[in-house]
Amino acid sequence: MDEYITIALPKGKLFNKAVRMLAQVGYSADNVVEDSRKLVITNEETKVRFIIAKTVDVPTYVEYGAADIGIIGKDVLNEQEKDVVELLDLNFGRCRLMMAVPEASKREKLTDYAHTRAATKYPNCAKKYFDKLGIQVELVKLNGSIELGPIVGLSESIVDIVETGTTLRENKLVELDTLFTATARLIANRASFKLKFARLHRLVEDLRVLLAEEAAAKAKQ
Ligand code: PRP
Repeated sequence: MDEYITIALPKGKLFNKAVRMLAQVGYSADNVVEDSRKLVITNEETKVRFIIAKTVDVPTYVEYGAADIGIIGKDVLNEQEKDVVELLDLNFGRCRLMMAVPEASKREKLTDYAHTRAATKYPNCAKKYFDKLGIQVELVKLNGSIELGPIVGLSESIVDIVETGTTLRENKLVELDTLFTATARLIANRASFKLKFARLHRLVEDLRVLLAEEAAAKAKQ
């Protein structure tokens, strides 16, 4: 084995579980922690290199081959439509992209919205969604704390990720519709997947076994 595998890991909600899962199938290195000052961490023994990246940049590293593989949410993949190979649904980080409005100004039905101004981190997904519904939309792109949009009068609605629903509740917003649900995915660079096929195929198979074991253990609970 003389080839390195470079893995892009997303900072944030998916980080810890991604690191744990990879370690369980033999892909680990010392000090792979989210706040590591060192952004590239190598395990010379097993020839694995980890890149700790900003979430939205993971598909870019993989598309350009700076990383062979990466772990990223399906929401980001849907938004960016990068040219990468989606290898496996890792079945964690489950969330959904939804449209929400303030409880106080909620109209009865979705079809009561002929026009809306929506704040979002996902303008491409939101545009497609509103176009399909025939709702005219003005999108305000924000990079975080999307729920602030309606509170400060920047937008009427939001299109954002919900996981537990806490942020919506705390900001008195209610969900009107779900665009899609998303989970973490293992992605690969197209060329890497061909050139390093044996090793990546093994990794995918080992992760599949791990996922099946996790599912079986959950079913027993
Ligand atoms: C995401 C999302 C919501 C929140 C939803 O934000 O944009 O704000 O999580 O989670 P909940 O339903 O469990 O409350 P994130 O924490 O990624 O940070 P951001 O606001 O900077 O985007």
